[in-house]
Amino acid sequence: MKRILIINGPNLNLLGKREPVLYGSVSFEEFLKVLRTECHGVQIESIQENGEEALIEAIHKGAQYDAVVLNPAAFSHTSMAVADAVAAIETPVIEVHISNIFARDANRYHSHVSKYAAAIVVGAGLDGYRMAIGQALRF
Ligand code: DQA
Repeated sequence: MKRILIINGPNLNLLGKREPVLYGSVSFEEFLKVLRTECHGVQIESIQENGEEALIEAIHKGAQYDAVVLNPAAFSHTSMAVADAVAAIETPVIEVHISNIFARDANRYHSHVSKYAAAIVVGAGLDGYRMAIGQALRF
C-alpha cells in the first residue's frame, strides 16, 4: 500500500473559515475524510504546522513516505530553509497551492520550493490535493 503524507503550512488550519473567496468554505478535515474514502489502497496521513521549524521537521518526516503533498503556504515565498528541506529528501514532493498564486500580488509569484518539486498544482482549489495524489501515485 502506498503511503502519502500531506503537509500543510501556516494558516491552513483555518481552511473553511479563512478568506473563503480564495480558499473555499470546506475545512481540511472535512475534505480529508472524503479524500480518504476516494483513495482506496492508499494510506494518507496529514500534518499541519504553523511554524517554520515544525514544518521543516514534518518535511524531513516525509522521507519515510512514498510521496509528500506539500502546501508550504506563505513559506513558499519566503523560506530558503523550507525549500532546502524539500531538496534534502529523496521522496517526491508535489507542491500544491489552493489559490492561483499568479493571479495575486507579485510577492506570491515566486516559490522557493518549486525548483525541487516533482510536480506543482496551482489554483485548483482543494481539488488540487486530489490531483496531487493522483500524480503522486505515478511515482
Ligand atoms: C497558498 C498561497 C500562499 O500565497 C498563501 O500564503 C497561503 C496559501 C495557497 O494554497 O493558495 O497561505 O499556499
